[in-house]
Amino acid sequence: MYDLVVLGGGPAGYLAAARASSQGLRVALIEKKLLGGECTNWGCIPTKTLVEVSESFHRLKLMQQAGFSLDIKSISWEQLSEYISRAVWRSREGVKTLLSDVEVIEGFGRLAGPRRVKVETTGSVRDLESRYILVATGSDPRDIPSARVDGEYVITNREFFELKRLPDSITVIGAGAIGVEIATALAMLGREVYLVEILERPLYFTDPDVSAVVERNLRRLGVKVFFKAVTKSVEIVDGVAATTISLGDGSVKVLKSEKVLVAVGRKPNVENIGLEIAGVEYDTKSGIKVGENMVTNVPSILAAGDVTGPPQLAHKALREAVIASDYIMGYASPPPRTPIPQVVFSHPQVALVGLTEQDAAVAGVSYKVFKFPYVALGRNTTALAKSSEGFAKVLVSDDGKILGAQIVGNEASELIHVFCLAIAKNLSIKDVADVVYTHPTYSEVIGEVASLALGRPMHIR
Ligand code: NAI
Repeated sequence: MYDLVVLGGGPAGYLAAARASSQGLRVALIEKKLLGGECTNWGCIPTKTLVEVSESFHRLKLMQQAGFSLDIKSISWEQLSEYISRAVWRSREGVKTLLSDVEVIEGFGRLAGPRRVKVETTGSVRDLESRYILVATGSDPRDIPSARVDGEYVITNREFFELKRLPDSITVIGAGAIGVEIATALAMLGREVYLVEILERPLYFTDPDVSAVVERNLRRLGVKVFFKAVTKSVEIVDGVAATTISLGDGSVKVLKSEKVLVAVGRKPNVENIGLEIAGVEYDTKSGIKVGENMVTNVPSILAAGDVTGPPQLAHKALREAVIASDYIMGYASPPPRTPIPQVVFSHPQVALVGLTEQDAAVAGVSYKVFKFPYVALGRNTTALAKSSEGFAKVLVSDDGKILGAQIVGNEASELIHVFCLAIAKNLSIKDVADVVYTHPTYSEVIGEVASLALGRPMHIR
């Protein structure tokens, strides 16, 4: 009898298993493919490694302004792919180390009852019994009827990060987080990139003033972007993918590229894992229903991560793993599930937490909005890659509480956490303005926007 059996070795599964085992619980974790799941193998880790390389290359080119003439003789796209794979491997090894006290079983697991799991491994079926079961099976990329994934020409992020050589040209369908990050990185490396989005702008979850900055920068980097664009078909002709799209004005275009990347969202992995047998309630779109402490309607079965629905983010999965494992270990007062920040590693970076203006309008919440531009920051003046159009924006309630913040600009991915802390701890905009921020740093944008909101601006008139 185990204390905990975990289905799935992604961020939600591995962290819950590692924490429970570190407290002396008997834990088994079942993984059908690779430990680390989407984030480690085909998501966060390879993407950020690619982004790091392309940003560095971009800066190298900008150094010409400072008098450097650098002659890059060649780039080996094969070696770059290998370099990314090594980062993934290192990250996966880290996960293995965390799981050293967990029995890791390679195979496909299915619930067989409220406390039973059946695992198909090569050549055998094992029956496990456990006090608790955590379902952390994650999500799979979706595709669309007009661009079915064939794994060779039409691919998802998974096949993309398994390519032995980064493609010379790509058509990306979907300008969400994955589409924008990969399009940005490849364009910075001088690859030919088409970006096709069905809506009228990229990053639909940000406010339009934020996505407008991202859109202009995508175009500046040479990405050919098409909004209100419907993908009609993808045909492979003489080893080239020809994507036919129709645009809002009725015109039709054919985009030719080596690969087509489909990045139109993900679906929770709820099918074929025995949820019906165990009596767990779920929905094929929004995933497994969980209550407080990540417990499903079956008291011995918990769920965490992408399988519990949006936002499908690794840090949301990690937090849910902490809550679930705290519950199993009997700890009182788990940490809260919100606010969950979201970051996009575009150029410039985008980060947000709490309510956007669109959310506030839908919820009928009254707010005031304040914006501070990066051009007024000393640190931005010193940067090689300046965020000329960047800004931090904050939504403040009538009684001075911070409802939400969005940052588009250099280091936005790091800066947003000050606002996360402020929202999590119910701090006021005055609390945020009261902090002394080091000069010259990007962090000053936080103090500046907070001072502006108080009606006491500093480096702006
Ligand atoms: P997404 O939901 O972020 O974006 C999908 C995009 O595809 C949307 O803009 C949507 O309008 C568009 N789309 C849908 N159908 C389309 C069609 N037929 N033709 C053209 N465009 C279409 O999903 P994405 O980018 O696939 O990412 C999946 C998940 O992974 C998301 O939950 C995302 O937040 C997460 N992720 C997070 C990252 C981060 O935190 N930095 C990085 C990458 C992914």
